[in-house]
Amino acid sequence: MKIDVLTLFVDSLKAYLSENIAGRAMEAGLLEVGLHDFREYTHDRHRTVDDSPYGGGPGMLLKPAPIFEALDDLDLWKAHKIFLTPSGRPFDHQTALRLSQHDHLMILCGHYEGVDQRVRDVMDEEISIGDYVLSNGSVAAMVIIDAVTRLIPGTLGNQESAENDSFCDGLLEFPQYTRPEEYRGQKVPEVLLSGNHQLIAKWRREKQLELTRERRPDLLEKMQDQKKDN
Ligand code: ADE
Repeated sequence: MKIDVLTLFVDSLKAYLSENIAGRAMEAGLLEVGLHDFREYTHDRHRTVDDSPYGGGPGMLLKPAPIFEALDDLDLWKAHKIFLTPSGRPFDHQTALRLSQHDHLMILCGHYEGVDQRVRDVMDEEISIGDYVLSNGSVAAMVIIDAVTRLIPGTLGNQESAENDSFCDGLLEFPQYTRPEEYRGQKVPEVLLSGNHQLIAKWRREKQLELTRERRPDLLEKMQDQKKDN
């Protein structure tokens, strides 16, 4: 897979990528990441990427030209183009799975200000990583790259742990324990020591349901709606 990121903060993304699952995927030849500063595509002395909005109002907007020229020069028009913004569709496991099936993604990060609508109009989709506003959109790009990369076959050391993840089956993860059997008075639940795989599976499912009911009732509702549709 190839991921090209257009950002004004190449260095923070570079530092992150070197020490992470994406770094390992790149070393293994499963992922190629291109980091591009679209300020390189300005032509004025001050290398201006933004301007005030027509019609007035506070704040500045990213100009279309540097972004369009970056897409031209880097030959990114055919990639699946994503703009990161709090007004995008919410990012979740299903979205990560869907994106992991593309050969080529282009991620455009906004920074503080909005972006000229003509840029947004040529994107394939807009994604938000949550209902809060980040000052630096490259943080959202890191989130997307991380979540997508670990779903590319061969990237996660233990494929099974991706399959057991929270959200993979629509429920939160069950609790897990390792040695010792007792630590500071806290014991590993008896059933996990029983060797009875059927009982263990039942216990894990119950715990998943219990946790999901308590913390994310919306996920249970979503599951029920999906069942009704099938
Ligand atoms: N840029 C700023 N805030 C964001 C968010 N919540 N999701 C994606 N991109 C963003």
